[in-house]
Amino acid sequence: MKVVLASNNAKKLKELGEILTPLGWELIAQGQLGVSECEEPHHTFVENALEKARHAARLTGLPALADDSGLCVAALGGAPGVQSARYAQSAADEPKSDARNNEKLLAELAGQSDRRAHFVSLIVFVRHADDPQPIIAEGEWHGEILTAERGTAGFGYDPLFYIRELDQTSAELPAAEKNRRSHRGQALARFVERLPSCR
Ligand code: IMP
Repeated sequence: MKVVLASNNAKKLKELGEILTPLGWELIAQGQLGVSECEEPHHTFVENALEKARHAARLTGLPALADDSGLCVAALGGAPGVQSARYAQSAADEPKSDARNNEKLLAELAGQSDRRAHFVSLIVFVRHADDPQPIIAEGEWHGEILTAERGTAGFGYDPLFYIRELDQTSAELPAAEKNRRSHRGQALARFVERLPSCR
């Protein structure tokens, strides 16, 4: 089944593809079909994921899959949350930067002893743009924010996200291990369980 992925994030495409390609899905990044990123104006992951999926489905005529995800830090009242990708941006036309986001997060948490944080992933699938019954699945991954980066794998906040029981950051985990444990991996596993009801 050909499905448009409502994202141009190559790392996300890879993580989602590793799980969905074996199920016979052909995931095509929306950029390859000439679809640009849509606004993400909402306060919740689920609303933004729906917005992205409907936008991609409307412009391509294909079923669409969207993942809206982010990092929620307890001591920051859940920030950066839905703003995770754009946390360090001061103007809308400034390019997104993982490096500056991580720098800002470290600055905001300087001197803070409560370092608890969790990633959230909301996966939404629409069969067509006006699908009244999207398939929705959520995953969370709990950890702590370090005071300096460790590891080079993954993307985004991975080098700062520490999993105590493994004594590793998510940027130190092999891709398959991250997929198995991560918010996105968990959301996808739940999503796949719901697929038989998807006609
Ligand atoms: P989205 O593309 O609007 O869903 O933004 C997701 C943002 O959340 C990314 O740009 C990262 O900053 C952060 N994020 C989401 N998932 C991960 C992950 O698995 N590792 C590290 N950062 C993540």
